[in-house]
Amino acid sequence: VKQNIHPFIIAIDGPAATGKGTLARAIAKHYDIPHLDTGLTYRAVAHAMLEQGKPLNDLQQAMKIANDINFSKLDRSVLSAHHIAEAASKISTLPQVRRILVQKQRDFATHVKGAVLDGRDIGTVVCPEASVKIYITAASTIRAKRRFDEEVKRCGIADYQAILEDINRRDERDMTRVDSPLKPAKNAYLLDTSNKSIEIVFLEAVALIDSVIDD
Ligand code: DC
Repeated sequence: VKQNIHPFIIAIDGPAATGKGTLARAIAKHYDIPHLDTGLTYRAVAHAMLEQGKPLNDLQQAMKIANDINFSKLDRSVLSAHHIAEAASKISTLPQVRRILVQKQRDFATHVKGAVLDGRDIGTVVCPEASVKIYITAASTIRAKRRFDEEVKRCGIADYQAILEDINRRDERDMTRVDSPLKPAKNAYLLDTSNKSIEIVFLEAVALIDSVIDD
């Protein structure tokens, strides 16, 4: 681990199920810096709204929940559920909720050791000054197949067509919303993982980050 690089922010963006989270966690471990999966912050708001039986467009309640969220208590095993992803995508179209979560995400990014954040708008909105920006993509059919394999492994059964439709619908919403739509930052490094293993993607990302550190 290089000690002279901090504070050093790595932004990882891309559509659903590209392996952003897996890559971000591996990078955080490799460089020994904190990691925030910002998707979990939107998922946490969506989850609380669903638990409380609130309609997702109840802005006052969504803002209250966003304000109260403790970023150190985000439980990925609970929040990764399928139905929460769709609700999170809807919640994330609300600019007032985004504003609250983005402020907290920026606070996280100012950690003295640096940080790696992954999401949809890290390189464009949350940390436009990030040292390294990576935009990950993969064909949606390939992302759906990976999710399908994961679910089969976990529950023994999955519906490929339903997963593919979910991914396409969510990407469409995330890319076309008015506030902070998903898109690569101008200076982002584009990484297409369609034909690459997670190991290769990790090595490419580390090579890129090291080249920036060495500058
Ligand atoms: O990365 P994820 O699948 O956990 O994200 C869930 C939803 O949250 C995603 O469909 C859109 C929203 N999101 C966002 O709008 N901005 C981010 N930085 C991260 C996620």
